[in-house]
Amino acid sequence: MEVLAQLIQLMVLSSVLATRSRSRCLSVGSFNVKWFTVAKSADEGILNIVADIIRRYDVMLMMEIRDDVHQTAMNRLWELVNASSPYGLSLSQPLGRYSNYYREQYAFFYRLGKAYLVDTEPYSILIKTSPTSSEPGIAFIGVHTQPKNTMTEMASMVEVTDFILRHWSTDKAVILGDLNADCRYMSTSALAQTPLKMDQRFTWLIPDTADTTVSPQTNCAYDRIIVTDPVQHSAASVYNYETQYALSSQEAKAVSDHYPVEAQIC
Ligand SMILES: *[C@@H]1O[C@H](CO)[C@@H](O)[C@H](O)[C@H]1NC(C)=O
Repeated sequence: MEVLAQLIQLMVLSSVLATRSRSRCLSVGSFNVKWFTVAKSADEGILNIVADIIRRYDVMLMMEIRDDVHQTAMNRLWELVNASSPYGLSLSQPLGRYSNYYREQYAFFYRLGKAYLVDTEPYSILIKTSPTSSEPGIAFIGVHTQPKNTMTEMASMVEVTDFILRHWSTDKAVILGDLNADCRYMSTSALAQTPLKMDQRFTWLIPDTADTTVSPQTNCAYDRIIVTDPVQHSAASVYNYETQYALSSQEAKAVSDHYPVEAQIC
């Protein structure tokens, strides 16, 4: 239960976003951007690609942020993201789990004019498709499991999700992030038996066969988007920025070791 408590603490950063999107749909992304530090943010090539990727989405979860106290790296990125259309940023405190090595900040970027931030807590956000909607909204739950604890953390995900759904009195959830639930961190049979897979209320949009790793040597579906049944969805895929920007594998690896995953949800 300690793990569950930690997860809840981690995830119950809740912000309320009310969106005025005419389409009532949102493009959603999740990107583990491999230790986004001040030094990394000083590389303009990388910064431009990351900013560009964020601008693909109305709501995007970014993981593995390790900034300084002045938020230098994230402000650089945010300014660039803002250049075409302004975004809001909900940035978590450094969340240190198990050891300093894993201290990271999570961020949600959300497109202003489409999404309005009403409230924040650690680390879920509640989104509405219209500011005046009486509907309870969609809970976005950010997850980044620690590789050696993936099994235990995955085992708690249904409980965590139910806790958050009850908290906001909604039945709509989008669980997104780097689950590490593949390859050497979780076997195919263990994954098949994890409650989040067995529970029929959840649909996994990024298939087990997907490869969200940049390295040609690995083929692992670490990054996922999972929705509860009432959430309508389409166009789920892995966004291969290496091909998109015609990068060398060296250049692609300098951006991250993960590709973003994305989907349209309504
Ligand atoms: C990005 O734009 C928002 C909205 O205009 C603004 O509040 C925020 O300060 C900007 N961020 C940066 C780093 O310029």
